Amino acid sequence: MEISIRNICCIGAGYVGGPTMAVIADRCPNILVNVVDVNKERIDLWNSSNLDNLPIYEPGLDEIIKRCRDKNLFFSNDVEKFISSADMIFISVNTPTKKKGIGAGKASDLKWVEASARQVAAFATGHTIVVEKSTLPVRTAEVIKEILLSKKDFSDQENDSSTFDVLSNPEFLAEGTAIHDLENPDRVLIGGEDKDAIKALTNIYKNWVSPKKILETNIWSSELAKLTANAFLAQRVSSINSIGALCEATGADVREVAKAIGFDSRIGSKFLDAGPGFGGSCFKKDILNLVYLSEYFGLKEVADFWNSVVTFNTWHQHRISRLITKKLFGTLSGKKIVVLGFAFKSNTNDTRESAAIQICKNLIEEGAALFIHDPKVNHQQISRDLNLKPFSFIEKNEKEKIKNHGGYWDTISSTKNAFKDADAILVLTEWSEYKNIDWANASSQMRKPSWLFDSRSVIDPTKLENTDINFWRIGDGLKI
Ligand code: UDX
Ligand code: UDX
Repeated sequence: MEISIRNICCIGAGYVGGPTMAVIADRCPNILVNVVDVNKERIDLWNSSNLDNLPIYEPGLDEIIKRCRDKNLFFSNDVEKFISSADMIFISVNTPTKKKGIGAGKASDLKWVEASARQVAAFATGHTIVVEKSTLPVRTAEVIKEILLSKKDFSDQENDSSTFDVLSNPEFLAEGTAIHDLENPDRVLIGGEDKDAIKALTNIYKNWVSPKKILETNIWSSELAKLTANAFLAQRVSSINSIGALCEATGADVREVAKAIGFDSRIGSKFLDAGPGFGGSCFKKDILNLVYLSEYFGLKEVADFWNSVVTFNTWHQHRISRLITKKLFGTLSGKKIVVLGFAFKSNTNDTRESAAIQICKNLIEEGAALFIHDPKVNHQQISRDLNLKPFSFIEKNEKEKIKNHGGYWDTISSTKNAFKDADAILVLTEWSEYKNIDWANASSQMRKPSWLFDSRSVIDPTKLENTDINFWRIGDGLKI
């Protein structure tokens, strides 16, 4: 039987739910899309008239919101109402790593997914297709299904005739290019059993995606494919970062090595940029999920293999802060370091698992005074991440003491005139505006000997030729 979808509800208005629903609404004008979230502040921001205040920064998102909001795209806290009117519900809530109990530090905490499934069970009417969008450990769809099917046991409505199908439809969008990735996906993956439910979801995507790119799998393959894709990508970043360290030690240049191997069509040229270590909400969490699953099924060697990708990444972040300390004569006490970029990559305001967090914490611990610039990340977020107030928010009488000991941070709103008396500049995010800094001017303001550490290869070394800045670049051993 052909199921026609007219009314969608998405639970979770986050980095995944918000942009995904915006693109579905934009490409399917005949479908009503309601995005619900328990967080009132977040929904208010999605509804703000000033599009600069949307809770998520993604290039192109504001244009779509302008076109669709209050036409066929709505943001609300009324979870119950929009679950009950939907014929398809996406679950797009967060699945953080468990902090305690079985699988602590590795397994995903499914409490929000479970809570969402219970809400769906309680309020859905008629036939509803439930689509899991959150990245989840394999076999989560089973949990969702069980909760939905158990509805009959606890429903107090005698004639409750609601029925469900569960599909897995993992999201592969990368932050910063989310809208582009959603509009031009490499593939759309739909895992499930019921042919009609799969067809209903396929028909939505067919409005803008070629059928050749829409893959159908069984539900477990779909869930595992998402974890595997992220694990492979993260592993590539750790691989190139490991070679970067070797380049620095041996006199090779990681950019040249990456280019050379990228020409091999079996390897390919993407995802070979050495950097300060991978971040973002998915990579570490998904690998740790794979590690947990492998351990659970007694595959210790498989678990160890994937775990090493994460432990290497952490080592690599510490390596960068250690080498900065070493170059600055082994002590950072009272030294001014300007940090350029805090987001886990450019074109996003997201800082989750950003390498900048660990590196900045280490530098502060060594006594440095950090002046952090990021075009999209505010001081409240940095403060939460570093678990430390910015210097300008510290009590007056405390300030002098802290200034003497070092080990503090503040933000700067622009890179203009930011480098006065700085001992070092550290690039941690590849924002393109850092390419245009006037290095001759920066050099004239800095304390000597001055250093520029570029962990993202954004600075063109030829632009430093007439300055007296010492330059360190990730994976660059050419100068040894
Ligand atoms: C999340 C997961 O982290 C990721 O693994 C998955 O692939 C997609 O969903 P993201 O959208 O980046 O990613 O998370 P986040 O920005 O934290 O958004 C989740 C939203 O769900 C939050 O706004 C939260 O308030 C909301 N939520 C959570 C609910 O509305 N109800 C709940 O019960 C729990
Ligand atoms: C990732 C996946 O790409 C996406 O498909 C999935 O749905 C969610 O997780 P995201 O975390 O948004 O997306 O960012 P991504 O572009 O994959 O980058 C992850 C991290 O790796 C960033 O910290 C980035 O700076 C780093 N990276 C990426 C490198 O250091 N070098 C590279 O060559 C590529």
